[in-house]
Amino acid sequence: MSTNEQIIGRAEINDLEAILSVSNTDVNETIHHVESHYDTIFTWDYEKGARPKLNRLYEKAKTSQWNGETDLPWDTEVDQAAVVVANAFASGGFTQGIDLDGTPFAKWTDKEWIEFGMENQNWTLSQFMHGEQGALICTARIVENVPWIDAKYYAATQVMDEARHVEVFAKYLDTKLSGHYPINAHLRLLLDDIISDSRWDMTYLGMQIMVEGLALAAFGFIHQLTTEPLLKQLLRYVMSDEARHVAFGVLSLQDYYQELTSAELKDRQEFAFEAAVRMRDRFLFQELFERMGIPVKEAVTLVMQSPERQAFQSLLFSKIVPNCKKLGLLDANGGWLRKKFGELGVIQFEDWADTGEEYDMFALANGETPAVAKSA
Ligand SMILES: [Fe+2]
Ligand SMILES: [Fe+2]
Repeated sequence: MSTNEQIIGRAEINDLEAILSVSNTDVNETIHHVESHYDTIFTWDYEKGARPKLNRLYEKAKTSQWNGETDLPWDTEVDQAAVVVANAFASGGFTQGIDLDGTPFAKWTDKEWIEFGMENQNWTLSQFMHGEQGALICTARIVENVPWIDAKYYAATQVMDEARHVEVFAKYLDTKLSGHYPINAHLRLLLDDIISDSRWDMTYLGMQIMVEGLALAAFGFIHQLTTEPLLKQLLRYVMSDEARHVAFGVLSLQDYYQELTSAELKDRQEFAFEAAVRMRDRFLFQELFERMGIPVKEAVTLVMQSPERQAFQSLLFSKIVPNCKKLGLLDANGGWLRKKFGELGVIQFEDWADTGEEYDMFALANGETPAVAKSA
């Protein structure tokens, strides 16, 4: 297997200098070009339902569409500072009992914490929006390069889902929050890697299994914590789609990965590990601290050491690890990925529910779908 140096560009997973050396150098970039070469595949086998689970997912997707413009209560007034205070109050205060003596945060009053909370929302939602565009692009790619008609059909519905997700996050940022952030450099690195790989299953593995697996967990966490009703509903709607998307990855790759050789699986394991590290690195608030003029290294060290943060970060992997297990990626090649996920501190999730069938649980109930409610 390759070394950490070869896979993630550094020997130590937690080498902070190396992590922070990856930063966004062109914050005013408006177009980002990624070169890639891949085969576009036609299939002349139009038998619908040859892959019954994918067909069922496609039928489910057709009846689960919602309209980002009309189905969400956009007339909700959002006082961002008040939301920050209410969220903090609901989850144990601004500092959550952490001892900040001797740190750049020690002298902060409520004013700074509120500003930080607002920037945190701007940053977090901006990264979700960029990730959603990554999903839009990857899924359009899958329509082209997956060889099965049932998967092409399903992927086409996901393209629409992702367009809607980009749309609603962008609208929320523009009309309810107070600023955008450019894409985090670690997230961009990961999206670039996924897009530039020519193998069709790598698009799935990178996007549906890794990025969307993490998004589903992160949305669930924020959905539970936020006190703002519009964002809560927006996330609820997005999650009902994301659960299908993650299932799409698991259902498509499960059989295919059983046919791969150890050498082929090695590439997939290394790719999954690389993606996991990039996603962990992307959650360190680098650009947020830069913008607020806080010493970045000191602040990120604190973030990495905080027990609450560690719990949150590892929870982000609660969907990814069982799904990798279901695909056979944890145990191939002497359990290499199992060891690596152990080093990252996330292996404890391996026996949690995988998301191959979980999407029904996330589906919107009839009363939750305004389009249905209006016509009733
Ligand atoms: Fe999405
Ligand atoms: Fe998605």
